[in-house]
Amino acid sequence: MSSLPLENRVAVVTGGAGGIGGAISRLLAEDGATVAILGLPVDRDRTEKLRIHLNGSASKLHFYEGDVGVFDNCRRIVAGIVEQHGRIDYLVNNAGITRDHTVRKMTIEEWEAVLQVNLSGPFFMTKAVLETMIAQDFGRIVNISSVVGESGNFGQANYAAAKAGLIGLTKTVALEVAKNHITVNAVAPGFIDTEMTKAMPSAAIEAAISQTPKRRLGQPEEVAHLVRFLVDDRSGYITGAVYNVNGGWYM
Ligand code: NAI
Repeated sequence: MSSLPLENRVAVVTGGAGGIGGAISRLLAEDGATVAILGLPVDRDRTEKLRIHLNGSASKLHFYEGDVGVFDNCRRIVAGIVEQHGRIDYLVNNAGITRDHTVRKMTIEEWEAVLQVNLSGPFFMTKAVLETMIAQDFGRIVNISSVVGESGNFGQANYAAAKAGLIGLTKTVALEVAKNHITVNAVAPGFIDTEMTKAMPSAAIEAAISQTPKRRLGQPEEVAHLVRFLVDDRSGYITGAVYNVNGGWYM
């Protein structure tokens, strides 16, 4: 039997049982990678549901419960993954939340919660995996940013600031570890059909679709496809880049 392309690779996907994260976890597992999903308690059941759709590769998914916004959790979980699976080849910083309000109405708690999960989380996870990747002399880090990190968005100062910050983090880490054969890139999705967009008012979704040249929401699998491309062995010369996957909404 021929082996799958990502056989023996180990991926960590934060929020890897959600909409976009679930599609990423599924695609990597189908290509043979072992996938460690890091998520909140609610993601345990979602991981089970993902397994049902994976048939032959269901055993490739492993669930680890933890909040990416707490550094000690990240460090402890990463150590457990390395102990169990021996290495970490890919880190996909995908977990993210929204707490939308205009700046005038946004509470300090809403600001801090979004910065903690969407920006400190990727920093904590990167810090936690880096020594392992350096020791391996190989790694791929993909940060899921957002189109609004570049464009800004009404009512999303916390989210847009975190996603813009993530682009700065991406480029800086890319510089620091280029010599270790570790690439670090960001993916900036537009409006993708997941629970996150389902929480938006329907008028806002309609407006987003009408402003998108492709005239539809993106599918999680379309983001996953780009992540799969970036983790590939053949993508070693791509680093510090930001890739849009937004149907032309922002160019
Ligand atoms: P989702 O809500 O379906 O999934 C997010 C996942 O992250 C969930 O499984 C959730 O439980 C997990 N999570 C949340 N907080 C966490 C924490 N503190 N620790 C660990 N896990 C946590 O959302 P979706 O749409 O799949 O978003 C995934 C990423 O894509 C996010 O970073 C989001 O900002 C980004 N994105 C989404 C877009 C969209 O239109 N859906 C557009 C652009 C970016």
